[in-house]
Amino acid sequence: MPVRIPVAAPVIGEREIEYVTDAVRSGWVSSIGPYVDKFEAAFAAFSGTRHAIAVMNGTTALHVALHAMGVGPGHEVIIPDLTFVGTAHAVLQTGAEVVLVDVDERTWCMDPRAVERALSPRTRAIMPVHLYGLPADMNAILEIASARGLDVIEDCAEAHGATIDGRRVGSMGRIGAFSFYGNKIITTGEGGMLTTSDDGLAARVRFLKDHGMSKERRYLHTELAFNYRMTNLQAALGLAQFEQIEAFIAKKRQILAWYREGLRGVPGIRFNPEQPGMLNVAWMSCLVLDAGRSAQELGAKLSERGIDTRPFFLPMSELPHLAGCRKVSANGPGCPVAGRLSRSGLNLPSGCGLQRAEIDQVCEAVRALV
Ligand SMILES: Cc1ncc(COP(=O)(O)O)c(C=O)c1O
Repeated sequence: MPVRIPVAAPVIGEREIEYVTDAVRSGWVSSIGPYVDKFEAAFAAFSGTRHAIAVMNGTTALHVALHAMGVGPGHEVIIPDLTFVGTAHAVLQTGAEVVLVDVDERTWCMDPRAVERALSPRTRAIMPVHLYGLPADMNAILEIASARGLDVIEDCAEAHGATIDGRRVGSMGRIGAFSFYGNKIITTGEGGMLTTSDDGLAARVRFLKDHGMSKERRYLHTELAFNYRMTNLQAALGLAQFEQIEAFIAKKRQILAWYREGLRGVPGIRFNPEQPGMLNVAWMSCLVLDAGRSAQELGAKLSERGIDTRPFFLPMSELPHLAGCRKVSANGPGCPVAGRLSRSGLNLPSGCGLQRAEIDQVCEAVRALV
């Protein structure tokens, strides 16, 4: 059986084994332990925020952030139609309503013109997603939010290290949420992190993620809260991964550059968008087929040749339990750009362990099939 080319395998090396072994040997296997503190401190410094708070995954990061800001029943939260479902689930878990806005062809992220049209008296927060590694148009989104006193939560699950004018994602909104699932730029197996420079909000998140326990008295729990803590074992893996984050980001960008080069001249395809002033960390190398051709069909044919891919996410508006949400585009109802991209986009193999020869093999297969 020939070896398959995986879509996003993590790179786990000796450093990861050393730190995790150390954590296991130390006996600090739950959420108290030095690796949690070190990982949080390193991630805050990297993000340019005063606080980084480790949690158990990206979805709980978003949920506890929304809850900490008081989002709940009666509120609306605006999210992009093209995202992973965790973005929407975090909102629904608070009891608030999801409002879906179309994405911008130029960024594949939330279209600020659609956000403007989606605002209502019940809008409480805007949650841009930095999709597949490129930041959303945060300058425009922050302007809309600040004019109306709305909170902005950045969903940075797919964009560790991406920047706008040198500022890292996760430092521009009131709070940012990251995922460390196994396919992410760095992984802790399952895991998440919140970044903020708002001291009060950081304290509230720390309180809520730990069963709402009083700092003054152990076992005095003063409100309904959560256990969303990250373990020291996960943080040991995370710290080892974090120490290589710059190299991982450089490799992600290198892989995308190899695809661009290897598929140069092939008509009817395009790759991840780039925008002036923004650093796209290319979490996934994305191929978009023009003229309504089906990415799923291409994915199936690549799979027959031993190449794993993923289709783009289904738009949230096409999921049964979200179909009733309000949907708004820049020009009218519905989210046509998200729908088109979803049908025509494919994530190519993008793991940091891939070599040039494997990317060449993928390019050869795509050339033959497109
Ligand atoms: C955009 C986006 N938001 C949220 C999440 C949720 O993160 P997790 O899987 O760690 O809960 C993910 C990824 O998994 C994601 O891609």
